[in-house]
Amino acid sequence: MKVIMAESYEDMSRRVAEIIASQISCKPKSVLGFATGSTPCGSYGELIRMYNEGKISFEDIIAFNLDEYCGLDGNDMESYHYFMKKNLFEFVNIQEKNIHIPNGRCKDIENECINYEKKIEEAGSIDLQLLGIGENGHIGFNEPDVKFEAHTHLVTLEEKTLKANSKFFNSYEEVPKTAISMGIKTIMNAKKILLLGSGEKKAEVLNKMIYGEITPNLPASILQLHSDVSIIVDKEAGKLLKKQV
Ligand code: GLP
Repeated sequence: MKVIMAESYEDMSRRVAEIIASQISCKPKSVLGFATGSTPCGSYGELIRMYNEGKISFEDIIAFNLDEYCGLDGNDMESYHYFMKKNLFEFVNIQEKNIHIPNGRCKDIENECINYEKKIEEAGSIDLQLLGIGENGHIGFNEPDVKFEAHTHLVTLEEKTLKANSKFFNSYEEVPKTAISMGIKTIMNAKKILLLGSGEKKAEVLNKMIYGEITPNLPASILQLHSDVSIIVDKEAGKLLKKQV
């Protein structure tokens, strides 16, 4: 694992955007795995800036998002469909047909998960997967006690996650209790992984994830076994990280 210590959230966002931009420049038809949450917002802002300056094009990019809440429609402001539209997709030239996000309103969840996985496979696997991390060590919505061998699947969210994510809803009660998420296996199949961490709240989990035991109790710890992972943190999130590993 490569650990990159950024000076600030802005510096982290710039560096992440540069890595994504270089991936797009080297391979305009890249398959990119996108994440939601507060952490990647700055990076998406930087990507929009680069696009407006004519430095990158999303025309041939194929996008797959990590997850979506069950029960939310793409027009619901708290859905990850809406999040991606308002934080990135609406502002760049990505083609609608190349955007993939699990359908939280599907009738048959099992079928939706199988099809999502099939689409990733057909696209030729993910070239670069962006990840945030939950305070409980989740990646995507893969909560502690996850099965490392899981592909895209239905997940039940932990109370800690519901509380953390209630910041995006009017109240805690409104946060959906289940979601569809790429599984650990799906994430581990990505060629490159870029995990972002920002803020003091993430310092402890990042320390455990990088230096601690590999365990389903801390889903992100499995990334120690991936051959190409970069972790980019700002000063607050990286305060317990002492060395490159
Ligand atoms: C949600 C997402 C995760 C994300 C996490 C952290 O739970 N499903 O993909 O990593 O939030 O969010 P934040 O960046 O807001 O701390």
